[in-house]
Amino acid sequence: MHIGRTTLSKFVIEQTRGAHSEMGALLIDVAAAVKTISGLVGKGALSGFSGSMDSTNVQGEVQKKLDVLTNEAILRHCEWGGQLAGMASEEMDAPYAIPAQYPRGRYLLIFDPLDGSSNSDVNVSVGTIFSILQRSTAGDAEAADFLQPGAQQIAAGYAIYGPSTMLVLTVGSGTHGFTLDRESGNFILTHADIRVPEATREFAINTSNARFWEPPVQRYVAECQAGKTGVRGEDFNMRWIASMVAEVHRILMRGGIFMYPKDSKDPSRPGRLRLLYEANPMAMLVEQAGGAASTGRGRILEVVPEALHQRVPVILGSREEVERVERYHHDHDTGVDRPYVSPLFAERSLFRD
Ligand code: F6P
Repeated sequence: MHIGRTTLSKFVIEQTRGAHSEMGALLIDVAAAVKTISGLVGKGALSGFSGSMDSTNVQGEVQKKLDVLTNEAILRHCEWGGQLAGMASEEMDAPYAIPAQYPRGRYLLIFDPLDGSSNSDVNVSVGTIFSILQRSTAGDAEAADFLQPGAQQIAAGYAIYGPSTMLVLTVGSGTHGFTLDRESGNFILTHADIRVPEATREFAINTSNARFWEPPVQRYVAECQAGKTGVRGEDFNMRWIASMVAEVHRILMRGGIFMYPKDSKDPSRPGRLRLLYEANPMAMLVEQAGGAASTGRGRILEVVPEALHQRVPVILGSREEVERVERYHHDHDTGVDRPYVSPLFAERSLFRD
């Protein structure tokens, strides 16, 4: 029984009173969609929705049946309330227009309905990530309306479907976690004002890409791996779940650093993760919890988007570690990490032709 404890509805109504009161209603609809998705994902193989569709999404990735169903769940739960000017998602090439019969509002909802969905068939935690922006002009939203730097997000959050379902949310005043009480159907505030611990020694990166990384990331990871015997003088632990939501959740709970950096695997992509519905909401949540989120060369939340499905390098988590990786990028870009070469022996010098 949770009588007297703060429910998500109470929390968002209190937190959005005034300028963003309509957004409170939108967040309650998002939470309803999350409960539907939690029910679906929780059934596992019994849902009959395991496996892939014959289609690919705009990224060229094979869509899972659950990707399509969870996308529908969010559209249906959120389209009717009159708070939105439009929605966009990983699973849709172009923004979704609010059907004619429903009123329009000033908010934009952009989401990844089932992040890490390749994990759903193997019963590993997956999640939903969402971001809420505001539109300056009236009418139906177009793709250009979503192209706002993450610093302009009004709210951001994710749901994690793990042993328990949690919704982690920020409306710009801290990062707060709610756990789904399956008996009452309520999200209960269980993790108020989450803080990313500063002092942790845990990194997360897909090391199978090591040969494609840039030198600053290779340097950082090599130093972590060298542990006590290296320059860091301490042993590090490593994790890779291949589910960003689960990775960020662990970092919010116990610290660490998560990296999906720029690499040369596919030169047309500056990173793997999507700016608007993966990197930006996670960056806001992590910053609101006292952590940092960077591309390696600047704050993620300041990147000016150019396309709806744009990708970006992501380095986020405990502030000290993120700042160290940024410093290594700076050292590399300015050449200070390169071994000293005397001008006498440099490529064009007195002793070379
Ligand atoms: O869509 C992105 C995602 O599934 C993330 O959730 C996860 O961090 C990453 O891709 C996993 O990438 P990889 O397949 O390289 O391990």
